[in-house]
Amino acid sequence: MHGLGERFSTFTKGQSVDTIKDALGIRFKSFQKFKAWGGTVSDRWLNMGNVPLILAVVIAVSPAGYCQSGEVCAHGGMVVSACPLATSVGVDILKRGGNAIDAAVAVGFALAVTFPQAGNIGGGGFMLIRLKSGETDFIDFREKAPIAASRDMYLDAQGNVVENLSLLGPLASGVPGTVAGLFRAHELYGSLPWHDCIAPAVSLAREGFAISSNLAASLQNLQQYLREYPALKQFTKPGGSPLAPGDTLKQRDLAKSLELIADTGPDAFYRGPIAGCIAEEMQSSGGVLSRADLEQYGVRNREPVRGTFRGYEIISAPPPSSGGTILIEILNIVEGYDLADLGCMSYNYIHYLAEAERRAYVDRARYLGDPDFVDNPVSKLVSKEYAASLRESIGLRATPSSRFSGDGEPDREKKETTHYSIVDKHGNAVSTTTTLNDSYGSKVVVRGAGFLMNNEMDDFSIKPGFPNLYGLVGSEANAIEPGKRMLSSMAPTIVLKNGNTYLVLGTPGGSTIITTIAQIIIDMIDFKMGLEAAVATPRFHHQWLPDCITVESGAFNVYLRRNLEEKGHRIEERFERIGNAQTIEIADSIACGMPDPRGGGRAGGVERTEPQER
Ligand code: DON
Repeated sequence: MHGLGERFSTFTKGQSVDTIKDALGIRFKSFQKFKAWGGTVSDRWLNMGNVPLILAVVIAVSPAGYCQSGEVCAHGGMVVSACPLATSVGVDILKRGGNAIDAAVAVGFALAVTFPQAGNIGGGGFMLIRLKSGETDFIDFREKAPIAASRDMYLDAQGNVVENLSLLGPLASGVPGTVAGLFRAHELYGSLPWHDCIAPAVSLAREGFAISSNLAASLQNLQQYLREYPALKQFTKPGGSPLAPGDTLKQRDLAKSLELIADTGPDAFYRGPIAGCIAEEMQSSGGVLSRADLEQYGVRNREPVRGTFRGYEIISAPPPSSGGTILIEILNIVEGYDLADLGCMSYNYIHYLAEAERRAYVDRARYLGDPDFVDNPVSKLVSKEYAASLRESIGLRATPSSRFSGDGEPDREKKETTHYSIVDKHGNAVSTTTTLNDSYGSKVVVRGAGFLMNNEMDDFSIKPGFPNLYGLVGSEANAIEPGKRMLSSMAPTIVLKNGNTYLVLGTPGGSTIITTIAQIIIDMIDFKMGLEAAVATPRFHHQWLPDCITVESGAFNVYLRRNLEEKGHRIEERFERIGNAQTIEIADSIACGMPDPRGGGRAGGVERTEPQER
C-alpha cells in the first residue's frame, strides 16, 4: 500500500475525478457522504472544477507534506505515532511478545529521543488503557506546580503578567511526571522487563539517528533561543545552525539518563542523580523547582470519564484534563441534530458544531481544574439533560461569545505535543498523549542529564481572564497553587462499538485537541467516512474566546464562508495545521492505523493485511 505522498505525486492536472479519489485513498462511499452549501455533494460537484480546490486545501493544511505512510492494516497489533522511528520501536516490542502497555512504554521513551520537540522525560501526560478484559485505567502523570509556586508568581508589582515568564526559562516548569507515569503503567500492566522497554531508546540516544525533514524543520525554531539557552546546542551543528535532514543526532547525556532509569527505575529520576541535576539546573538559574518537589511527585490512577454518542461509548480523559469532559459535552449537544442529513462541511453542520463548542469551552474556563484541589461538576457537564438545556439556546444565528462574558485574544505562537495509539493481539488498547507544552518546552536543557524541561505552568490561569499560549482563559478553579496540576486539554480517547474497542485516538493541538477528536468521531459515526478520509478532512475549531471559527486555510470555500458570516460567525483562517491525530480503527480483529497526513507520523502493524471494506 502506498502513502498519501506517493499518491499525490502521481496526480497531474486533467486526471479524472475517480483517479484523484483513488489517489487520495478516500473511499467513494465517504465522498458521497460529503454535502456542502446545504446541498448534496456528488461527483457532479467534484467534476465542476472543485477538485483543484480540494487538493489545494489538503496540500495547504499540510505544510509538512504527505511524505509518510497512510493507512496500514494488520493482524496481531498496531502502533501509530508521530515519529516513524518510535513506531518501529513499538512494533518491535509487539513482535517480541510484549503487550500494548510494554509497547507504549517503549514508544514513550523512544519519542523522548527521536521527537524532542514534544516527546519527553521532562514533561507529563495521560495514558488511557483498556485491557482485553474490558477494564479501564487512566494514568495521570501530569506535571504539578512546585511547592514554592504561588498564585501571582508570573505577575509584576503592578499585577501585570510578565511576558514569557510562564513560557521560557526555569520558572516555567512544572514537576515532570513522565518517568513515574510510564513506570506505573508498566508496573501494573507490563509483561516484558522494564529494562527491555527502555533499551531501544537508550540505543537511539547513544548511537544516534538520522534527522528527518520534519525534525529538521522544527529545529529551525531553536536558533533564536541559542544565545539565552546555550545547552540547546546539542541540537545544532558547530557554529549554531540547526541540524539538517540526514545529519545524525547523538544525545550522550540523555542516553546515560535513560540507562540509569532502565537500570534503577524511576528513583534515579526522582531521588537519585537525575533529581540532583534537575534541582541544580533549576535553582542555579532562578527557578524554584527543588529535590523535595521531585521526591513528592506522585502519579494518580483515575476513573476515565464516560459518555455515549449515538450508541457508541466514549471513554476519555477526566480532570485534571478538560479533554474528555468537554469532548463528551460537545458530542452530547450535537447528538440532538441530524448531522448526517445536514452533510459534512455543510454550513449548518459547521454552525451547530461551533455553537456546541462555544458553550462547552465556556464551561471549561468556568469550572474545571485539578480534582485534588477543586470540585469539578463533571457528571453535570457530561449529562444528556445538561446538553439538551444548552441546545435550547442555540438558534440559526451565531451567539456572540460576549453573551457569556469575558474577553480574549488570539493564539500567540507555535506549539507541539504528541499522541500515540497502540493495540495488541490480545485486545489491549493504549491511548497516550504526552507533552512539554510548547515545542521544546521551556527551552531549558538539564545539563548533565540531556533532556528538555516542560513549560506546562503556562496552562494554569496565571491571571483571571489572561489567555494562555492557546488563547484559553480560566478561572479560580485553575489558579496556581503549590502541588496542583494545571488544567489540560489533552484527551487520549477510546471509542467502543457494541462493547468492543472500535477507535483509539488522540492528538496534540492545545485547545484544538478536543474539537479535532470530536470531528474525527463525527466524521466516522455520522458521516460514515472511512478512516483515512475522517483523519484527512479539513478541520475547524471554536473555543468561545476568541469569538471566531478558526479554520485550516482554504478549507471553507467562498460560499460556505459567506453563509457562515451571514449567520454571524467570524472566520479566521490559519496556515498552521490543526492537530496531528494518531488513530486506530478496529473491525473484525483487524486493526487499521492512520497517521495524520498533516504530520510526519507512521502506522506500523505486526502482520500486515489489506483493509476490509467497512
Ligand atoms: O495540556 C495541554 O492541554 C497543553 N499543554 C497541550 C499542548 C499541546 O497540545 C501543544 N500541541 N500542539
